[in-house]
Order: sequence, then structure tokens, then C-alpha cells
Amino acid sequence: MSERVFLSGPMGSGKSQVALALSELWGAPAVDLDARIEQRAGASVSQLFEQRGEAAFRALERETLESVLAEGAKIVALGGGTVTETGLRRRLLQEGTLITLRARLDTLLTRVGSGSGRPLLAGQDVGARLAHILAERAAAYAECHAEIDTDARDVDSIAQEVDRVVSDAPIVVPMGERTYRVEVYPGVRHSAAARVRRSSKGTQVVLVTDTGADDPWARRMREQLEAAEFQVVPVCLSAGEEHKNIASIEQIWNAALAARVDRDSLVMAVGGGVVGDMAAFAASTILRGIGLGQLPTTLLSMVDSSVGGKTGIDRAEGKNLIGTFYQPSFVLCDVETLSTLPLAERRAGLAEVVKSAWLDGEASVALLERYAEELTRGDLEATSAAVRMSVQLKARVVTEDEREQGVRATLNLGHTVGHAIEAAASYAGLRHGEAVALGMVAAFRLSQRLGVGSAEGSARMVALLRKLGLPVDVDKYLDERTLAFMSSDKKRKGGKIRFVVPGAPGAAQLLPLPTDEIARLVRV
Ligand SMILES: NC(=O)c1ccc[n+]([C@@H]2O[C@H](COP(=O)([O-])OP(=O)(O)OC[C@H]3O[C@@H](n4cnc5c(N)ncnc54)[C@H](O)[C@@H]3O)[C@@H](O)[C@H]2O)c1
Repeated sequence: MSERVFLSGPMGSGKSQVALALSELWGAPAVDLDARIEQRAGASVSQLFEQRGEAAFRALERETLESVLAEGAKIVALGGGTVTETGLRRRLLQEGTLITLRARLDTLLTRVGSGSGRPLLAGQDVGARLAHILAERAAAYAECHAEIDTDARDVDSIAQEVDRVVSDAPIVVPMGERTYRVEVYPGVRHSAAARVRRSSKGTQVVLVTDTGADDPWARRMREQLEAAEFQVVPVCLSAGEEHKNIASIEQIWNAALAARVDRDSLVMAVGGGVVGDMAAFAASTILRGIGLGQLPTTLLSMVDSSVGGKTGIDRAEGKNLIGTFYQPSFVLCDVETLSTLPLAERRAGLAEVVKSAWLDGEASVALLERYAEELTRGDLEATSAAVRMSVQLKARVVTEDEREQGVRATLNLGHTVGHAIEAAASYAGLRHGEAVALGMVAAFRLSQRLGVGSAEGSARMVALLRKLGLPVDVDKYLDERTLAFMSSDKKRKGGKIRFVVPGAPGAAQLLPLPTDEIARLVRV
């Protein structure tokens, strides 16, 4: 994200004034979109609404914004309704930091007075009209990098908060009123209590961890939350995929119900993907759904499981067969927590990073190739950059296809064969990420044979995985047992699997292929 900020919010939220204060702080000019429109059109916003109507005004607004973007303006105070158009809003989210300034209705009313000069407030009851506009635009205003309260605050302190948000560079998963942010930087875990306070009105936090992440991460989180006067309900599950089951969920349910949590309470997951998936499943079911915060402490859970809203537990019939889609309220990825993670676990997470990079494009693959050594060493800066890249990709894909009806399925690159290898090994001896690395090698072989991918692409993938210390010797796993597990893949439809066939970096296709065809194409 560039250092460019867009200030949004309803009339009276202070966009223009905060833009001027930020302009002083940054020493860069601020553009007021409404003023620029008036200048271009030679008429006031009110006149434009009156003479041309709202649709024509929005078209003019879009055109003017395009030219402001082309100019490279760093600080832009938007109009109150600019973000109501989804395409434009999503573009602003990509092109800079989009911030919504908020205020209570009574504050807004004091600031806008009789509403004169504000065409949408024209008429009798200004309060009722403004309340209606706020309700109508709530989902659009929620899709932003940060919402900042402006009640009883001076503009300079608000500008400083805007400046902080820009430097923290949160990644937004825009989902209307379910929008959430993923913050990725070393030390972000220290903001957890503040994030809980912002996202929930409650005083109780069900803190879910497992025996692997409890010491020191969950314990320190408990201290932080208690220091902020939250009542913590600690739940420590037994670590390991074999405990990703209904008994662990009951442990969370029982603790939460015994503590008499209410709808405003929040479940906070501190741990890897197993803890995250189960804490999220529990959060989605306790009192029909309470808030959820994620502090992933494995690389895999940072780059994959904590974002996107898939929750679940395993059954004897297969992994993740029972679950829900349930988005968190916030995600904090603090790469410092990886300092206690065994190297083999970090490497396993890197397989998902490689997958994301390939799906993302050339620049991301080149980034990993350049920093492979730093990544295996756990360098904080390189790891943060890799996590950001992966989360950005996942956020983009999940926004487009929350329930995996289409493009989200490409995130399964390497997983069809990988899952079968894991299942054939009874989930022992190989980590999920290692199996995914092997699965990607198989997928590239298949792709090359279908004429989609190239020999260079396959060799590049194998070299990158090797550089990161991941296994690539897939042939020794491709026995009858593995292939039989592939045939029973839960995503199989009518004897065919939608296989993710990688092309050049940034390109992957979903091709329905019969399982026996896949078996033939992945073997030497
Ligand atoms: N929901 C999704 O979209 C999604 C996506 C991918 C994977 N997953 C799930 O994620 C799970 C795998 O996650 P994982 O790889 O994080 O495994 P994991 O949660 O089992 O963690 C691996 C081990 O590391 C320990 N650990 C966690 N953090 C630690 C730390 N900072 N220091 C030391 N030890 C630590 C854990 O206790 C555990 O023993 C699978 O169950 C998989 O199904 C879910």
C-alpha cells in the first residue's frame, strides 16, 4: 500500500478538516473532492444535484476522482457518498489507505446545523434524513482500513491516528458490515486488548489455545487482557490434529457456558491452525455466534487458516468435514511469535507461502527466490513481507468468492495430491505443508503434461521448494494407497476432481479431471 490516504465518512464527520491537519503533518497538499468538483463544474454541489440529479453528480464525481488519482494526490477528502459505489470503493482500498471518520448522530447534527448546502439533507427533518443515510451507507463505510471516532476530539489527534493507521498498513477483507482487518507487523500482539475493545462491547474473552502455544503466547495474552480489565476464560486444548474434534469443541463450549458469556463476549484464538479452526467453530456456535479474534502463532495459520472464515473439526471419515463459514472480527499476525516455532513447522508454512506467491504472480515468486535463505532463518522483515503477500492474495480471493464456488478453489493448488498423501500416511510423519509441497510438484508435472505449464515453470517451482528445505521427491509417495485416497476426495463430483492446474506465475486453471487421468498424469 502506498502512502496515500482517502478520508471518507458522512457529512459532518470532519473529512476536509482532518485532511488539512494531515496535510500539515505530512507536508503534502490535500485535495477536497467536493471543492474540486465545484471548481471543474463551475457550480456548487447543491446546484449540481438540483440541476443534474444525483446520478449525473456521481458520474462527475467519479471522473474528478480519476483525475485526482492520476495527479498522484496523497491526501484526498472524499465526498460523503463517494464510497457507495462498490467498484470505486474497492479500487480506493487497493490504491491507498481508506479511512472512515465516524461520529455519533447527535455530534453530526451539531456539526451540519440546519443542513444548508447539503443537498441530501434538504427537507424537513434533518435528523431523520441523516439517520437514514447512515443506515443506508453503513456497509459501504465499514469497508475501510480503519474507522476512526471523531466525537469530542481535536483534528490534530485524529490526523495523528490516521498517520498511525497508514504506517501500520492493515490489510482489509472487505465484506460489508462483516469487514475485518489483518494486521501484520512484529509486535502487533501488544495491540490485542485494544482490538478486542474496539470490536466488542463485552468484558469477557474466551482465550483458546493449545499446549504448544500456551507458553508463552497465550499466557502473555492473558496478562495483557487482564491488565486491560477483561475477564479471561482460559481454555487450553491438547495440541495436535488428532485433537481437532468434538471433544475439544465441548471443552470450549463448557468453559464459555460455565462462565456465563453473553452475546458481546469474544473468543480469541492464540495458536496454530488447529486452535484457530476450532476456536472459530466454537465462536460461530456459542449463543448462535459471538465475536472472534485470531492471533495465529504458526506460519501456516498466519498465511492461510486465520483469514477467510473456514472453521472446522475432523471426523473419522475425513478432515474438516464438520464446520462453518464464520469471519473473524480481527486478525493479528505477529511474526515475533514464530520465534518459538520449530524450524520444521516454519518450513511447512513456507509451502503455503510458495503456493500463494505462484498464484499471485511473478513479483511474489521472485521475492521468495531472493529471500529464501532469510525466510528459512526466520528473518522478521522477510517473513512479515511473505505473510503480507500471502494474506493480501487470500483477502482478494476470499472477497471475490467467500464460499468457494469458483476462484477460491485455486487456493487448493497442490492440495488434491497433498491431501491424499497425508491421508495415506494417516496424518503421521508428514506435516500438512510438506504434503502440499509434494502435491505442488505433482500438480506442475500434470500441468506440463497437459501442455498448460512449462518445463521451466516446473523446474523453478522444484528449485524454490528445495531452497526452502521442503520435500520434492513426490514419486515415493504416489503409490496405490495414495491414489485410492485421491479417488475418495470430498471435493470429487461425478468421478471428477476440479484440479488446480498451475500455469505461469499468476495463472492457474481449475480443470475437472477424472481421478484415473490425474493418477496417470502425476506419475513418472
Ligand atoms: N481454515 C482454513 O482455511 C485452513 C487453511 C489451512 C489449514 N487449516 C488447518 O490448519 C491446521 C494446521 O495448522 P498448523 O500447521 O498451524 O498446525 P497446528 O495448529 O497443529 O500447530 C502445529 C504445532 O505447533 C504448535 N505451536 C503453535 N504455535 C506455536 C509457537 N509459536 N511456538 C511453538 N509451537 C507452536 C502447536 O501447539 C502444534 O503442536 C490443520 O488442521 C488444517 O486443516 C485450515
